[in-house]
Amino acid sequence: MSVFNYRNGVLHAEDVAMPSLAADYATPCYIYSRAAFEQHWRALDEAFHDYPHLICYAVKANSNIAILNVLARLGSGFDIVSGGELQRVLAAGGDADKIVFSGVAKSEEEIRMALQCGESGVRCLNIESHEELERIQYIAADLNVTARIGIRVNPDVDARTHPYIATGLETAKFGLAVPAALDAYKAASKMPNVSVHSMACHIGSQITELQPFADAVARIAELVLELSEHGIAIQQLDLGGGLGIDYQGESLPSAQAYVDNILKQLRDHDINLPVAIEPGRFIAGNAGVLLTQVEYIKRTERKNFAIVDAGMNDLMRPSLYQAFHRISTVIDRAQHNNSEQWEIVGPVCESADVLGTERELSVTAGDLLCVESAGAYSFVMSSNYNSRPRPPEILVDGGSSHIIREREVFTDLVSGERLVELDN
Ligand code: LLP
Repeated sequence: MSVFNYRNGVLHAEDVAMPSLAADYATPCYIYSRAAFEQHWRALDEAFHDYPHLICYAVKANSNIAILNVLARLGSGFDIVSGGELQRVLAAGGDADKIVFSGVAKSEEEIRMALQCGESGVRCLNIESHEELERIQYIAADLNVTARIGIRVNPDVDARTHPYIATGLETAKFGLAVPAALDAYKAASKMPNVSVHSMACHIGSQITELQPFADAVARIAELVLELSEHGIAIQQLDLGGGLGIDYQGESLPSAQAYVDNILKQLRDHDINLPVAIEPGRFIAGNAGVLLTQVEYIKRTERKNFAIVDAGMNDLMRPSLYQAFHRISTVIDRAQHNNSEQWEIVGPVCESADVLGTERELSVTAGDLLCVESAGAYSFVMSSNYNSRPRPPEILVDGGSSHIIREREVFTDLVSGERLVELDN
């Protein structure tokens, strides 16, 4: 059930009308729904029933601390990829022992932070190279602690998604191929300050079929069994994120089908270890929209342009991945039959600054438009290109709205910059 609905022809976020949000916070702005974040998180959590599991929300999808706090209140774990994300989770009230730390290039400083936070450091560091394993042993010894680790296995599975967000093929920089992972586990099991905790895998993002997940889980399961023959016991399986969402009417597996598919593979291999998953997009993607206003209408011989006040710096997915985001008018004009084809473009001086192309809409200058599915990988990937202050983020909760990040101003843009005394 979507929380973004038309009521009497006006688009609402939960119980709040978009025009009143535009009036209160101005445009462009990001609008998130607390109820949607919670619904999506619960759908996955409940799909496991009483099977031992931990949902580790992938912080990179939307890392606003108010959003992390909404999820921490549900008891969520978190998947992080940097020291910055670690500090965000702790600032938002997340538990250190429910954090898994992924990422190919953890710095020495980040590893120290991860081993020292909370009562006994993060739950697990997912390791992606032999060198990283050695670095962790060295730091854990220096701190006189034991580091719980998992090896991220690259199962060489084609996730059949956009090449920029596929990570599970042998050609990717991510993880260790099965033979190298086996060696790394053997090495880890002999290290005095390292304890083997989990086996991790993440094959890509916006995956819309179950088969790649089934293939990946099967490879992982086989390796777990092989390790046990070597006397190495895995405590937890971390099966990554990647479940896709509806951007464009795709047919998608439900949360239940996704979880059942994982558990079936484990049953087939006679494995009943606790499972962690790292969903980002599934929880955040359809829990947010980007609200924007049409500044100008420009008609040329070939095309109609609706020039809006949000650009590729605010939402770069369409320019970077040719990603499709639905764009709808805040006032429902479906009954009007004067719709035309529009290019929805932003103010940035780049031809790639297009939010949507060939959209059948009825628009005029001053209209509010809603760019949908913008809760994940949207604000987090924004920039100040063209010296554009980033938009505010607003959290709607029932009939109320809260600003959870202020609109940036000029002083934010230049903070950290210095005019220097030059000789001439
Ligand atoms: N775990 C790991 C180790 C990851 O690298 C990722 C995403 C996730 C979990 C979460 O995946 P999700 O459930 O959200 O699919 N910027 C791109 C997406 C990049 C995803 C990177 N890794 C986009 O806008 O489509």
